[in-house]
Amino acid sequence: MLKIVKYPHPALRHESRPIRRVDKELRRIVGEMFELMYENGGIGLAANQVGLPYRLVVMNLEPDARDPKNELVLINPVIARKSGHEEKEEGCLSLPGIYAPVARSANVTASAYDLSGLETKYRASGLLARAFQHECDHLDGVLFIDRTTARGEPELETKILELERAFTDARGGGEIPDDEAIAEEIARLEALRT
Ligand code: CO
Repeated sequence: MLKIVKYPHPALRHESRPIRRVDKELRRIVGEMFELMYENGGIGLAANQVGLPYRLVVMNLEPDARDPKNELVLINPVIARKSGHEEKEEGCLSLPGIYAPVARSANVTASAYDLSGLETKYRASGLLARAFQHECDHLDGVLFIDRTTARGEPELETKILELERAFTDARGGGEIPDDEAIAEEIARLEALRT
């Protein structure tokens, strides 16, 4: 059973490795990730947000309908080109309750493999372009709070501190393993699939 990890969980800082093959187990993982994303009202979820060190993202910009036609599975996504500039508010399922403005490219061209092993090219603008950049950042261990122009503002810093405290408490309560155990588990999962 997968679970969304919250900032400052070390899995979120891990630079994920490309996936070598698509199999039944990967399809199961993708299904579970969509389920978690929908349950939590997100539009995108990267694999390291559920503790898996793989370059894998699920997205649905209209999550309420849960329409499979709107579901995107991005395996080993690469952003090839970026243009334009747009600053908008972002949020993230790993940083619940935090919203902050992030300057991104307005347009991206990207490519990714899907579950049938086919490579698809994307030309994205608006929310989809933003989601691509936010999610690809995750795969490199980068969070939107690293990029926000609101860094240093007391309201944001307080919320970040609250998440850090909640994480420390959860760890103190035995709900989260120590850094060494997490690193070992990540290495084990990498050996399986990358
Ligand atoms: Co996110």
